Amino acid sequence: MGYSDDALDRPIVGIANTYSDYNPCHGNVPQLIEAAKRGVLLSGALPMVFPTISIHESFASPTSMYLRNLMAMETEEMIRAQPMDSVVLIGGCDKTLPAQIMAAASSEIPAVFLPTGPMAVGHHKGERLGACTDCRRFWGRYRAGEIDDAEIGEVNDRLASSVGTCTVMGTASTMANLTEAMGLSLPRSGSAPAVEAERVRLAEATGRLAARLASEGGPTVRELLTPDALRNGLVALQAMGGSTNAIVHLAAICGRLGAPLDMELLDALGRRVPLLVDLLPSGQHYMEQFHQAGGVPALLKAVRSELALGARTIDGRSIGEIVDAVVDEPGQTIIRTLEAPLKPIGTLAVLKGNLAPRGAVIKQSAASKPLMQHTGRAVVFEDVEDLARRIDCEELEVAADDVLVLRNAGPKGAPGMPEAGYLPIPRKLARQGVKDMVRISDARMSGTAFGTVVLHIAPEAADNGPLAIVRTGDRITLDVPGRTISLDIAEEEFAARMAALPPRPGPGPRGYARLYQEHVLQADEGADFDFLRDPS
Ligand code: FES
Repeated sequence: MGYSDDALDRPIVGIANTYSDYNPCHGNVPQLIEAAKRGVLLSGALPMVFPTISIHESFASPTSMYLRNLMAMETEEMIRAQPMDSVVLIGGCDKTLPAQIMAAASSEIPAVFLPTGPMAVGHHKGERLGACTDCRRFWGRYRAGEIDDAEIGEVNDRLASSVGTCTVMGTASTMANLTEAMGLSLPRSGSAPAVEAERVRLAEATGRLAARLASEGGPTVRELLTPDALRNGLVALQAMGGSTNAIVHLAAICGRLGAPLDMELLDALGRRVPLLVDLLPSGQHYMEQFHQAGGVPALLKAVRSELALGARTIDGRSIGEIVDAVVDEPGQTIIRTLEAPLKPIGTLAVLKGNLAPRGAVIKQSAASKPLMQHTGRAVVFEDVEDLARRIDCEELEVAADDVLVLRNAGPKGAPGMPEAGYLPIPRKLARQGVKDMVRISDARMSGTAFGTVVLHIAPEAADNGPLAIVRTGDRITLDVPGRTISLDIAEEEFAARMAALPPRPGPGPRGYARLYQEHVLQADEGADFDFLRDPS
């Protein structure tokens, strides 16, 4: 390919290319690669771009989560297989950054991450629109008959107004911000908009940094992701109104490091660190405004007293030094203070109980206060297809104070743990104005969704977890302040139903489906493959 010996003798920086026509969230990747290459070359190293899998949330079947581990495996092996001294990993859409962090955590090559950045907001009749919390809001109004076909079409045209990731605090924004808070990417790279010049300058700076990592031989992701760095990530997660999906991804990343995610710490921080960031779906603004308010460094400054300030970051500074360098944005109201938070509680709570012996999670910041302690009659849907078939039937016996239950939508069940946990409000109740109900499942939920939704019940129904024995008409109690989720039936009846569960079906016939079914772990272990975890 015409490289001179002088070029090939330089430190080599690999740059993972996740551009795909199927992935609009990565539509700016070619521009970011050019800028990163420029940074590498200006620093005297040699950039080498190589392709990897790219996963888009909407176009991956059966689910993007099903493919996350495949992307992690492929990225890890290609980093290992090809000569490179450091690597720039450019990701953005929900599963890509987690897959890349998992890969780099299992690799010995120093890595720096470059999120693609959030898309611009759209506008409709004087309102701001952002994928995809506003998709759900408008779809709910359409289902309730409040807006017609023409208007939903107009909204559809304006929801995703540029390349880049969803512009609310969904999973992509959460993971990009977490990557920065844990010290794995440059300051402000979590939130800089996909289409702004700052994003491109960050790419160039990331290339320069990667050249330095290549010369100096580190630090690696494993060296940076200390318990202190993970604590900082959890603090940021609670304060930013982050996605529940981040818990699954962090559990998988921790598994790669040989230390389980500290769910008790996550829950304890949820009681101490309130919600500070006024972004959808927990608040009302978008990533653009979060960035203008100072982004992750400003958020970290706001929670400074909860941080491990000595945690080292990829650019050589400590988190404390990055916080010290923050210049306050005068008059901003997007990032609140610990003394005057947006909501007095943290974002995420960890639940346990006879329905979820290995845990479940709820995004309490996006839940309805009156439903946080609730007992109701279960209305059970056997799987995603059953849900789609019956949820809008006029004959469905359901009331606003019932508990909607979806099962067989966990890691093995669907398979691939779809974002089906945000069960729609049955149409006949939506027409009556019902906006929220308690919904529980072994599925995940998009970080852009909202409501009183219990997720990630482990073990899942398809692994013969207790969710499999719930029957329509049973009573279920959710107690978020008490951190419990329980099926209110007699112990003997509970045991008899568990004993009567049929044996689980075997793995898929061939290929990745077989590998996946044989090796995928439950949500509390990040739904990673058992053989990819750190064996130590
Ligand atoms: Fe890619 Fe939302 S669809 S980030």
